[in-house]
Amino acid sequence: MLPNIVLIGFMGCGKSSVGRRLASLTGHRLVDSDDLVAQSEGRTISDIFAMVGEPGFRKIEENVLAGLVGVVGIVLATGGGAVLGEANRAVLKKIGTVAWLDADPDVLFERATRSNRRPLLQTEDPRGTFDRLLASRRPIYEGTADFRMDSTGLAHDTVAQTLLDRTMRLRAHAG
Ligand code: S3P
Repeated sequence: MLPNIVLIGFMGCGKSSVGRRLASLTGHRLVDSDDLVAQSEGRTISDIFAMVGEPGFRKIEENVLAGLVGVVGIVLATGGGAVLGEANRAVLKKIGTVAWLDADPDVLFERATRSNRRPLLQTEDPRGTFDRLLASRRPIYEGTADFRMDSTGLAHDTVAQTLLDRTMRLRAHAG
């Protein structure tokens, strides 16, 4: 059976959009960790940040991710900071093949700030915040992922198909 596919990457890299297409290509169910967090609290991500801050959000996120270990037949789109906790990184690797969806920083920034639903970028200097966060996280994405896929300039459908091919190849090589 096709393994679960876990999408990690910075805000704006297209995890949800690519995840949706991957789900329809594979027949897997798309699970979006931000949606699960919001559902579990009955609030938006922005409201959760406003009420319990980032540490509170991270705790809920950690619980949600831990609850997915053992679930089969899913494409998991994670929040951009899901890789920050060491426990989470181990959990994501247990859940499935981990793909890092990356793109040119300007592309990421434009997509990430298209809406104002990303509390971490609601600062006086969004680009400065973005650059600092991206620089600190890149090595973490790299260290967590089974492979990296640069989606700059590619249609979501192409990214999804390539991701699927690479996942299958990886699996074939793993025996
Ligand atoms: C976050 C990314 C968001 C969401 C929350 C925190 C982050 O998800 O989980 O706002 O720390 O990068 P997306 O990557 O889907 O925007």
